Amino acid sequence: MPHHITLIAGDGIGPEVATATQKVIDALGVHVIWDEQDAGLGSLKKHGSALPECTLNSIRKNTVALKGPTTTPVGEGHISANVQLRRTFDLYASVRPVRSVLGVKTRFEDVDLVIFRENTEGLYAGLENEISNGVILSIKVVTEKATRRIAKAAFEYAAKKGRKKVTVSHKANIMKLGDGFFLKVVREVAQNYPAIKLEEVIIDALCMNLVSNPSKYDVLVMENLYGDIVSDLCAGLVGGLGLVPGANIGEEVAIFEAVHGSAADLAGKGVANPTALLKSACMMLEHLGELSAGERLETAINQVLATGKIRTCDLGGTASTNEYADAIIAALSR
Ligand code: NAI
Repeated sequence: MPHHITLIAGDGIGPEVATATQKVIDALGVHVIWDEQDAGLGSLKKHGSALPECTLNSIRKNTVALKGPTTTPVGEGHISANVQLRRTFDLYASVRPVRSVLGVKTRFEDVDLVIFRENTEGLYAGLENEISNGVILSIKVVTEKATRRIAKAAFEYAAKKGRKKVTVSHKANIMKLGDGFFLKVVREVAQNYPAIKLEEVIIDALCMNLVSNPSKYDVLVMENLYGDIVSDLCAGLVGGLGLVPGANIGEEVAIFEAVHGSAADLAGKGVANPTALLKSACMMLEHLGELSAGERLETAINQVLATGKIRTCDLGGTASTNEYADAIIAALSR
């Protein structure tokens, strides 16, 4: 049976990394029928909407999407297509595995952690008001339902993958009500998983610990904004944004996308690193039950990076996006 997957190439480097990823997945021999749809700034210009109804309908029908990055203007303009997608399909868990890659030299060799970022509320709830001239309120929303399910997702993942510790990060010393409630609910959920240790750390201390000793972390769970920032920080620990994948998971729909954005500085040059989207595709294949295909792809990516001959510019190489994708396709058949 073929898999029907919505493919959103997105903006900037999105189409380049999406085309490369599509080519590699097709070479894997997994039977995918791609339904190509638009979202983001390009879509706004083409359809008058950053997230047109046809894209939403396609995702509704297929329930799985692979998505390139979409551009969101800073301080003005349309609401982020990502935020809208997460709200529309209630994609409450953003899952971001961050692993050291053999052959990619960084300050640390043994990073292996997974971030569970609450994806639907916090300061991303979109509740902003100018209540009087020069006074803005941005409201942070913390609900029991959203906190309980992200905590459960983190602990379930830890239990399934044999991980030993979940670290919850917060700022409950200052935001005693909001972050205090998040912490309280995570503690309650943790009681159902006695074999997994719960560790608590204030978000600023977490950032310091991550840049000095990241290998002490295993599974991390936190609210939306902290998770967004910590994801990029962690990408820096293992070689940059070109390497770190992600998944946005809900009850019905799952959307797989890299942590990175549309990288305007590289767009159209054919030099972006598609690894992050390729690794997101590995997560997608696991989600689809294509376990051996996902593992073959992961192995091929790691082999090409470990050999170090063919690399994109972000990792100090000169290969184009396409040459790198071709090297992975060649590695698949070794
Ligand atoms: P960014 O992640 O696009 O880029 C930061 C820098 O990292 C780039 O300038 C580039 O040099 C490097 N980089 C990122 N991805 C790379 C790759 N695959 N290969 C090689 N180098 C790579 O972050 P920025 O500049 O903050 O955001 C640009 C736009 O992307 C914004 O409009 C933002 O809203 C959007 N964005 C979208 C996301 C999504 O659709 N999931 C996620 C993050 C940002």
